Amino acid sequence: MKAIVTAPGGLDALKLVDLPDPGKPGPGEIRVALHGSSLNYHDLGVALGKPPTDGRVLMADGAGVVEDIGEGVSEFKVGDHVVSCFFPDWHDGRPHPGGFSRTPGDGIDGFACEYTVRPATAFTHAPKGFSHVEAATITTAGLTAWRALVEIGGLRPGETVLLLGTGGVSIYALQLAKAMGARVAITSSSDEKLERARDLRADCAVNYKTHPEWAKKILEWTDGIGVDHTLEVGGPGTLGQSIEATRMAGSITLIGVLTGIQGDVPTALLMRKQIVLSGLIVGSRRHQQDFVRALDGGLFKPVIDRVFRLEDLADAFRYEKSGSHFGKIGVEW
Ligand SMILES: NC(=O)c1ccc[n+]([C@@H]2O[C@H](COP(=O)([O-])OP(=O)(O)OC[C@H]3O[C@@H](n4cnc5c(N)ncnc54)[C@H](OP(=O)(O)O)[C@@H]3O)[C@@H](O)[C@H]2O)c1
Repeated sequence: MKAIVTAPGGLDALKLVDLPDPGKPGPGEIRVALHGSSLNYHDLGVALGKPPTDGRVLMADGAGVVEDIGEGVSEFKVGDHVVSCFFPDWHDGRPHPGGFSRTPGDGIDGFACEYTVRPATAFTHAPKGFSHVEAATITTAGLTAWRALVEIGGLRPGETVLLLGTGGVSIYALQLAKAMGARVAITSSSDEKLERARDLRADCAVNYKTHPEWAKKILEWTDGIGVDHTLEVGGPGTLGQSIEATRMAGSITLIGVLTGIQGDVPTALLMRKQIVLSGLIVGSRRHQQDFVRALDGGLFKPVIDRVFRLEDLADAFRYEKSGSHFGKIGVEW
């Protein structure tokens, strides 16, 4: 079967290879014919060789059709549409230690390939009516937005949400927050992208390049109060503004590293405003099942900016790296 694997040298070194067919599923396993994936900042890091890897099948997100089931599998049947889990061993309850050591496309092989055989618990059903690319977007970006806003944030209709930039996670969160009746502010480096966000019913749109102190704009929009929830994708370079823009006893969910992995944080302001700051990495299989149930109910479908062929995965990553995209970038085969 064909697969895209890493090699030292980054995007130019990504290789299309022929790997052995994974064969028949054993007890508790399913065989899936994969047809779609989507790009995340995390996958870009692996593809760029951070840390350097050789021969790793890329991509955390994978969606496709069940082709065969092993003994004892009752949750899926042949022909079901399924989507992969970011943490295949974290089924429910508290997160497991071990970081990305068991994350597909990082610690173990991912889904940039034609077929896979895995424990049935490494997948959930895909949302009804979703294409394979649409389904694949829930593994990482979608579930992160869901867990931040719904599981941790406890988002309620009428509350206010702040989102940074117009990448995969933030646009997912915009769609989710609007579908749940929230009011949303979003930032971007591009006025054109802010217009597109307004088309998705963003209530407040601020260019963070022309307004480096964008928190002031968010405070004006909330009559000086600040937002109830902030989904922080930037990290140290944006956290100070996010704390300014969040209300007393509001919540900030810190998920991203777009501006780096360490730096100064105005801790006294955080404390004075009694803000709840949570770290988060994606979610469990149970979170994903809850999210799929919500999407089955017709909540929304994710914005897919462009879809590339599997053979052109390096070009898809170059496109992501250029920052031109709005929402998710897909791959299909
Ligand atoms: N912890 C988790 O579970 C989790 C899960 C998924 C992603 N993440 C992290 O979340 C971040 C976003 O991931 P993604 O997959 O959504 O990335 P992405 O699709 O590549 O989005 C990148 C976008 O972020 C925006 N951006 C860049 N620098 C910014 C800044 N200084 N301020 C505000 N926006 C900025 C840009 O939007 P504009 O073009 O509009 O300016 C850019 O297009 C990454 O750090 C990723 O590692 C974490």
